[in-house]
Amino acid sequence: MKLVIKENYDEASRYCAEHIINLVKENPNAVLGLATGTSPVGTYKYMIQDHEKNGTSYKNVSTYNLDEYCGLEDDHPQSYHYFMKAHLFDAIDIDQANTHVPDGTKDPDEECQDYTALLSKHHRNLQLLGIGSNGHIGFNEPGTSFDSHVHKVALKESTIKDNAILFFNGDEEAVPHYAITMGIADILDSDEILLIASGKRKAKAIYALVNGPVTEDMPASILQTRDNVTIVCDREAASLLK
Ligand code: GLP
Repeated sequence: MKLVIKENYDEASRYCAEHIINLVKENPNAVLGLATGTSPVGTYKYMIQDHEKNGTSYKNVSTYNLDEYCGLEDDHPQSYHYFMKAHLFDAIDIDQANTHVPDGTKDPDEECQDYTALLSKHHRNLQLLGIGSNGHIGFNEPGTSFDSHVHKVALKESTIKDNAILFFNGDEEAVPHYAITMGIADILDSDEILLIASGKRKAKAIYALVNGPVTEDMPASILQTRDNVTIVCDREAASLLK
């Protein structure tokens, strides 16, 4: 695992965007695993800027997102489908047919099987990740098996609170209690992994990821065991590291 500490969120975002842009330039057919949340927004912003200025093309790129809330239609403003269109897909030349996000409206068991089958056929060249304040990756909450594949999860109270503040105007009632997420084994099935974290509220999780024990109680800690992982933090997120 490699650790990159940048001065602030903007610089961390620029670093991640440049990394992804270089990958796409080298391999125009790249398969990307993408993430939602506030953390990757800056990365997407710089990818869009580069697409507009330098013409980096995503025509032959395909994408597989980590997760989606159960019960939200694609066009629901808080759905991850909507998020991805608003923050990236609609602003680059990607073929929307090559973008994939789990379907939160289908029968969850069926969708878990279908998305697992899809992922098993499309190995990712890069997986972008954020991290929850409790150490979750995707929606793999503490206690999830490192061997897990796509599954339905009941979100922890802390995740519902965090996501209510960030995306649902603080309205906890509005946050769905279930989601479909890639499992940890699916996340690890990528040539490389880039995790971006910023701000004080991520410092404990980053400390546990980097310096703590490898345990299923801290889902992101599995990343410690891999050489192909880069953790990109700003100073605040890195502030508790030894
Ligand atoms: C959600 C997403 C995760 C994301 C996490 C952190 O739970 N499912 O993929 O990493 O939030 O979000 P943020 O980047 O907004 O802090």
